[in-house]
Amino acid sequence: MYVRHLQLVDFRNWEKVDLALRPGPTVVVGRNGEGKTNLVEAVGYLATMSSHRVSADAPLVRHGAAQAVVRAALRREDRELLVEVEVNPGRANRVRVNRAALPRPRELLGLVTSVLFAPEDLALVRGDPAERRRFLDDLLVSRTPRLAGVRSDYERVLKQRNALLKTARMARGDALATLDVWDAHLVDLGGQLLAARLALVADLAPHVARAYAAVAGPGAAPAGLGYASSVPLAGNGTPLTGGTATPPVAELSAALRERVAERRRDEVDRGVTLVGPHRDDLVLHLGPAPAKGFASHGESWSLALALKLGCFALRRADGEEPILVLDDVFATLDAGRRAALTDVARSAEQTLITAAVLDDVPEELRGARVEVSGGTATLVETVPGG
Ligand SMILES: Nc1ncnc2c1ncn2[C@@H]1O[C@H](COP(=O)(O)OP(=O)(O)O)[C@@H](O)[C@H]1O
Ligand SMILES: [Mg+2]
Repeated sequence: MYVRHLQLVDFRNWEKVDLALRPGPTVVVGRNGEGKTNLVEAVGYLATMSSHRVSADAPLVRHGAAQAVVRAALRREDRELLVEVEVNPGRANRVRVNRAALPRPRELLGLVTSVLFAPEDLALVRGDPAERRRFLDDLLVSRTPRLAGVRSDYERVLKQRNALLKTARMARGDALATLDVWDAHLVDLGGQLLAARLALVADLAPHVARAYAAVAGPGAAPAGLGYASSVPLAGNGTPLTGGTATPPVAELSAALRERVAERRRDEVDRGVTLVGPHRDDLVLHLGPAPAKGFASHGESWSLALALKLGCFALRRADGEEPILVLDDVFATLDAGRRAALTDVARSAEQTLITAAVLDDVPEELRGARVEVSGGTATLVETVPGG
């Protein structure tokens, strides 16, 4: 798919921008701080309803404005898709698709597919487990939109259960009886989320391994993905492959139920839920060793890139053609990684690339150009080879 037209109102530094876009590679150029990343962040927002830079919506709204609007006309095969999102910090967002309001904003998830690679992605390798859980869940929901409900219900149950555990610690009274009700929800939703994540990791692993081999070059240790769960599972954390069978949801829920019962006392003492998918982690392996704590800076970068290129390949294998967004990444890549990324970027239906100077971007990707300066963004068509 590709974005044919993008309109922003009061999004980040953009008071108003109306921008036509083309399929193929487009380089967004302009001095630092002009709003290049903000432009592509808006495209990413349509896919995940969150930003790759901040966890809350408030920073996305221009200082002094009450709401931001992102409107995009997209093409998917020969169909036109019109998406409009009103970002309302502290209140529910409003979403319209082809001019009809969606009953729930999260129903947008899965309609726009994009894969975004940015310097922030280094945190996928070096950061906290929360970064990797979010990575997995965003991909999960984009592949299986139904799971958006499971994800948000799980988060709500977790919040309620934690609140109850805190009061249980003080009162130790009726709260414990109510806890059983929340345990049932936690176990049911947690089992579904766990099963979906395990299946996803097994599906994603071969694509990431292939991408890593292309990015890191010949002789590099193979990359693998594992899933470490707070629920004891066979082979917990060891690399999964495309052939790894996922245990059924009922089995995972039962294992979760058992573990929750075992840790009940600790949970009441500490006033927080200690078992469940919210405590789990995606484990990245390079050869026999887990990457975290071992991988060099260069290997970490390659792995972060491979994770995103792996997502791109997986979505393609699903029959989707994601918009590829590359935010400010070419200047920091060495020749080998640049070449691997260029190959994928050339093959994408649309690639949006931001760079401070055009020279940072490989020549093969200098198709159309968007010039960003002084609060305006303009598409400049370039003749191929000209
Ligand atoms: N909510 C906001 N309101 C107004 N300006 C913002 C907001 N969020 C970010 N900015 C401004 O956007 C600019 C950075 O834009 P960015 O897209 O990161 O630049 P770059 O072109 O370097 O990628 C900064 O000047 C920052 O102050
Ligand atoms: Mg930037």
